[in-house]
Amino acid sequence: MNVRGTIQVPGDKSISHRALICACLASGESRISGILRSADVESTATVLRTLGAVIPDLSDEFSIEGLGFSGFREPHLALQCGNSGTTARLLAGVAAACRFKSRFEGDASLSRRPMKRVAEPLTAMGARFEFEHGDGLPMIVHGADLAGIAWNTRAASAQTKGAILFAGLLAGVGVTVSELRRSRDHTERMFAALGVPMTVGETSVSLTPVPVLEPLRMVIPGDPSSAAYPVALAALADEGEVRVPGVCVNPTRIGFLNALKRMGGSVRLTEKRFVAGEDTATVVVMPRKLHGIRVDAADVPSMIDELPLLACVAAASGVDLEVSGAEELRVKESDRISVVVSNLRAIGAVAEERRDGFKVSGARGPLRGKVITHGDHRIAMAFGVIGWLDGNDVEVDDRDCVSISYPGFWSNLSALVG
Ligand code: S3P
Repeated sequence: MNVRGTIQVPGDKSISHRALICACLASGESRISGILRSADVESTATVLRTLGAVIPDLSDEFSIEGLGFSGFREPHLALQCGNSGTTARLLAGVAAACRFKSRFEGDASLSRRPMKRVAEPLTAMGARFEFEHGDGLPMIVHGADLAGIAWNTRAASAQTKGAILFAGLLAGVGVTVSELRRSRDHTERMFAALGVPMTVGETSVSLTPVPVLEPLRMVIPGDPSSAAYPVALAALADEGEVRVPGVCVNPTRIGFLNALKRMGGSVRLTEKRFVAGEDTATVVVMPRKLHGIRVDAADVPSMIDELPLLACVAAASGVDLEVSGAEELRVKESDRISVVVSNLRAIGAVAEERRDGFKVSGARGPLRGKVITHGDHRIAMAFGVIGWLDGNDVEVDDRDCVSISYPGFWSNLSALVG
C-alpha cells in the first residue's frame, strides 16, 4: 500500500484551550490563529461565554477582548463541559478564584472521570467543592479568596497542574506544583510568554503573581496527537512518504514519535521553528520494518494520548509491545486499557490486560472485526488506522466521535492512501 502526501493537521487541542482562557483573562485584545475547531475546544468557549466572556465563533483567525482577572460574572446556567476533561479541570481552577458559585456539568463519559485531583489542591487553597456522587461531575465550585500553595500531584497530570496555576494567577498568589514525572508544559510556557515570571525545574513549576496578563498573539501549532495518526499510517504502509508541517514538537509531547523511532521507524524532523513559546517542525515519515519495544512509567506522560495508537501499530505490524506505569489510561474518555485490549482481541490480535498497562503480542495476520469505541475519539482514530491497511477490515461503531479532537480525520487520512 502506498501512503503519500503532505497533510496539515489541526491546531493543538491543549494549547487551544489554554489560549482561549488566557485571552479572556488578559488585559487588552488577543489575536489567535489556527485554533482547533473541535467539540472539546467549543466546550471551553461555551463555558467562558457562560462566565461572561465575549468570544466570536471560532474561526481561522479572531480576536478576543480580555476581561482581566476579575471580569467573570456569576453564571446563571451550568457550565457545560461536554466530553472535555481539560475544560472542566482547567476552568475549575479559574472558578475557584472567582468569588461566586458555579456548577460544572458534562456528558456521561466526563461525569465518570475523577475531579478530586483538582478539588483537593483547590480546596487546600481555600475554595469549596460539592459533588452529587463520588468525585465526578456535576460539581459545584464555591470560589473564594485563595491562598498560595506548594502542591505535590500524585499522577503526572497537566490538567491538575494547569488548574492550580490558573487559580494562582487569578488569585494573585504564588503557587508551586511538583509532579512525579513532568506532564505537558503548555500552561507554564504560555504564562511565561505573557509576562508571568515562572520558575521551571525538572518536575516542578512555580508561579510568581502579576497584576495583569499581557494579551496573546498566537499561531497555534499543529497537534502532535492528531499528527500521530497519519504518521502511524505512513510508518505501516508498504511505500510512500508523509510530511506533516507545523507540528508542535514540544519535548513533553513527542513520546509517540520517539517510541516509533525506537521501534525502528523512519521519522525525521525538519524545518524546525520556535513559535510563541512552542517548538514546531515538519514531521517526515517513511515505511520501515518495525520491532517490539517496552514502554514504562517514565515514557508514559509524553505519549499518554497516543498509547492506544501505539498498541494498534504493534498489532498491525506483528511486533510485541509491553506498556506499564500507564494506569492513568483507565480514567480517560474511556478505560483505555480495557477498551484497547478488548478491541484488539475483537479484531484478531493477541493482547493482554494488566493493571497499569497492556501487552500486545506480535501475531501478524489480517485484522478483522468490529470496534466498540465507547464514544472515545482516540479509540476510533487508532483503530481507524488499522482499517486502512491492506488485508484488514475494521468497522468502527462510532466514526463521528472523532469530532472531539479531529473533525476532518477520515477525509484527511483517506487523501493520503493511494
Ligand atoms: C491534557 C492533559 C492530559 C491529556 C489530555 C489533555 C491537557 O490529561 O491526556 O488529553 O491539555 O492538559 P491529564 O492531565 O489527565 O494527564
